[in-house]
Amino acid sequence: MQKESQSDYYVPAEDSFFLADFLENKQGKSVLDIGTGSGIIAKILSKNFPLVVATDINISALRKAHETVDNCICCNAADALRYSFDLIVCNLPYLPSDELLDPAVDGLHDGVDIPSMIIKSASNLIEKNGKLIFLTSSLADYDILIQLCQSIGFDTNIAAKKKLFYEELMIIECTKN
Ligand SMILES: C[S@@+](CC[C@H](N)C(=O)[O-])C[C@H]1O[C@@H](n2cnc3c(N)ncnc32)[C@H](O)[C@@H]1O
Repeated sequence: MQKESQSDYYVPAEDSFFLADFLENKQGKSVLDIGTGSGIIAKILSKNFPLVVATDINISALRKAHETVDNCICCNAADALRYSFDLIVCNLPYLPSDELLDPAVDGLHDGVDIPSMIIKSASNLIEKNGKLIFLTSSLADYDILIQLCQSIGFDTNIAAKKKLFYEELMIIECTKN
């Protein structure tokens, strides 16, 4: 994950492709992609899910995503939604930062403040035995995110890891009790 300045939305990078590959064969009825950016993840999920909803706080990102994804909603995390999904996914902004200068990548303190807020927003919209799958990194204090998920009723599992030159990407799979 790198700071972007060329585009007005997050251009898919290693993290996006890693999560997209992991999710490619998942199947279900309904999925929510929080922080959809260009819509890369939502588009892949639309092969196997009849209902795909995508949110982002960046309207330019949603305009791009809407080229391939029907249900795009501009809101914070999942705050505008009242629905039970069987899967919620998110490529979280996880870089530790003092300020929220680039919402596509800045996660604030230890890279967990923004992710924690997004996880809490998502947690009530997941069916029993449904899943929350998110991407984070060794650059963030990801143990805090795992503990948060456990404390709000999820079983957790580090489902995949990918070493890059300067960090290790991690996909965390959480199942609602
Ligand atoms: C790392 S980018 C991932 C984009 C895309 N999912 C991908 O994998 O390429 C994180 C995305 O989350 C969005 N985002 C950041 N904070 C958000 C929030 N509070 N609510 C919704 N979306 C948010 C950003 O605008 C950005 O598009």
